[in-house]
Amino acid sequence: MFELRNASFSYDGETPTLRALNFMIGRGESVAITGDNGCGKTTLLRALNGLLAPIAGEYLFDGARIDKKALANASFAKTFHRRVGFVFQNADAQLFCGSVEDEIAFGPRQLDVEESESRRRVDDCISLMGIEALRYRAPYALSGGEKRKVAFAAVLALNPDALVMDEPLENLDASGRALILDLCRSLKAAGKTLIFATHNESFVAEIADRRIRLAQGEVAGIENVER
Ligand SMILES: Nc1ncnc2c1ncn2[C@@H]1O[C@H](COP(=O)(O)OP(=O)(O)OP(=O)(O)O)[C@@H](O)[C@H]1O
Ligand SMILES: [Mg+2]
Repeated sequence: MFELRNASFSYDGETPTLRALNFMIGRGESVAITGDNGCGKTTLLRALNGLLAPIAGEYLFDGARIDKKALANASFAKTFHRRVGFVFQNADAQLFCGSVEDEIAFGPRQLDVEESESRRRVDDCISLMGIEALRYRAPYALSGGEKRKVAFAAVLALNPDALVMDEPLENLDASGRALILDLCRSLKAAGKTLIFATHNESFVAEIADRRIRLAQGEVAGIENVER
């Protein structure tokens, strides 16, 4: 589903933050991206979401090259973003609507999902994340953990084939972490592809099939996760 071939990514278009990465992630796989602070996990997830184009090598999604040109094509970009959902490390970067319910409905509306279906998805995702009480609140005025739950709901409302999650447990209390763990188990059982950066080793052990270990912008190892 996801394939990097000697792909390098850079923020300034010159100095690579990630160098010559090679790996494939198949449909239905759960893959953890691990490594020290600043090693490039967030950068890699941004790249997989098409937010950074390769300065060298290739990024292929289901065989289609993902680069500036491909994503400049509105219908291609729409299909790509419908299939790959992204939960940011910083939920503030993701939330911008006036109310939680509008925030969750935003993606489906943007992607031309019928209004009745959009509303149904909003209800489903609000109940899935247990955020009924937040429905009419303004996202910017929520706590960090509340924002993260809303961000998850907004991504789930797109019903993506793959979820790319940056530190999915950050800011969450024990019950919030248990909720995300359960959710990821169900998504995995439903055949979704999960790619996540985390410092939480027990989450890796629970959810990941494989681990891609990064060190200073390079793949330091790809290992199966033993259970
Ligand atoms: N917007 C940016 N512009 C320029 N450089 C950046 C930008 N964001 C990150 N970097 C740099 O890229 C490198 C990788 O950062 P990244 O955020 O990908 O690390 P990370 O592995 O996600 O770290 P953490 O565990 O702290 O989340 C760091 O050296 C960082 O300073
Ligand atoms: Mg990060």
